[in-house]
Amino acid sequence: MNESELVESAKKVLDGNWTGEFTIPSEALYPHQWSWDAAMIAIGNSYFDTDRSMKELEHLFAGQWKNGMIPHIVFNVKEKTYFPSPEYYDITRSPNAPEHVKTSGMTQPPVHAMACFLIHHNSNDKAKTEEFLKRVYPNLLKFHRYLMTERDPEKSGLVTIFHPWESGRDDSPIWDDALARVKITKMPKFQRLDIKAEGEKSERPSDDEYNRFIFLVDLMKEYNYDGKIMYEKYPFKIKDVLFSSILYSANWALLQIAKLIGEDSKEISEWISRTETNFRKFFSAPSNGKSNNSDGLFYDYDVIIGERIMKRTISCLLPIYTGLLSKQEAEVIVKWISGADFVAEYDTIASVDEKESDYKPLDYWRGPVWINTSWSIRYGLLRYGYTERAERIKQGALRLVAEHGFREYFNPSSGEGLGGKNFSWTAAAVIDMIMNKSNPIDLFLKQ
Ligand code: SER
Repeated sequence: MNESELVESAKKVLDGNWTGEFTIPSEALYPHQWSWDAAMIAIGNSYFDTDRSMKELEHLFAGQWKNGMIPHIVFNVKEKTYFPSPEYYDITRSPNAPEHVKTSGMTQPPVHAMACFLIHHNSNDKAKTEEFLKRVYPNLLKFHRYLMTERDPEKSGLVTIFHPWESGRDDSPIWDDALARVKITKMPKFQRLDIKAEGEKSERPSDDEYNRFIFLVDLMKEYNYDGKIMYEKYPFKIKDVLFSSILYSANWALLQIAKLIGEDSKEISEWISRTETNFRKFFSAPSNGKSNNSDGLFYDYDVIIGERIMKRTISCLLPIYTGLLSKQEAEVIVKWISGADFVAEYDTIASVDEKESDYKPLDYWRGPVWINTSWSIRYGLLRYGYTERAERIKQGALRLVAEHGFREYFNPSSGEGLGGKNFSWTAAAVIDMIMNKSNPIDLFLKQ
């Protein structure tokens, strides 16, 4: 398939998953609206259908909580094939929950301000999209403020997540030790529907992981989704490199939106400098103690034990996407990206370094290649001038899709497609990689 055929096929995937109000990630596995998927999907659609992109995000924002949290799932109440269901989440326990929309009780990485910015950037009707930006600015600002306060009482500019699902990388080895420390006191009875929906069980999180995921949801319910209480008592609290990197870039996008529509941007600038001050303090490997610091990568920080989580995964590389790194720091990351450990067939990047003992090439976020992370890293490479390496990632991702379909994720060695089929954000990322003529990170970071 050449590039224009790929774009046409990608559009068909997005059309097929469009419900009239929002786009599902993929038919069997994910029948509702997911938050960071929605943002990626809106970016993909922004080249052809501004209205649909705007509608996608406004549908998601209708589920925003009163404290500003954008939930990770907005449910389609007619759909009964997904667990945990809206009834299971029972968000009515929280005074912050929206009254007329059913959602989950947790959040996901904040790609949305970047998506809104790009919708306007790619639009042929700037007056219309400027109105859109004015409408959604309060949603975005409130969401970022929520992340910068309730999820960062330390005022570090870095986000604490309460659940692996909030990271978007459910079974990444990053969470293993923290999850193992969670004492399961009472296990609810439930039936996994994800492993019935599609694919092999070996391609999804294990039962033990899944039990812990559900136990943590139960605990959120026990605390009535009260962020303050959870920050004191909850057993899983991790400052995540990928989430915080995305928020940093999204804050730049939000700053541009604020300027464009004439809003005061002081608070956003202050968030940006907070992140810049603390990013390395929390995420760079320590110079003494148990771990060695010679690799120049960035690691998640476990708030409960006060230590970095020394697992080599795709998040260690993601800061290149922020533009926050010096040229020298970026160079180190590029060495990793170009070395044998992360580089999968097709020149794409595996989600876990294959030398990690936890590496599993077929299992979700424990090894497979994902197109959305390749998409982000490619933009990081372009920003720092690594054009040739960036082009190889793009061509590799396009070849993966051309040969194996718009799958959810891919085997790093064989390229075999895994997980959901006709996967929306894979299609959206392909469209953007082909259609985008300017690096969005450069656009956001423009002063
Ligand atoms: N990602 C989780 C799932 O697979 C929760 O959103 O269902």
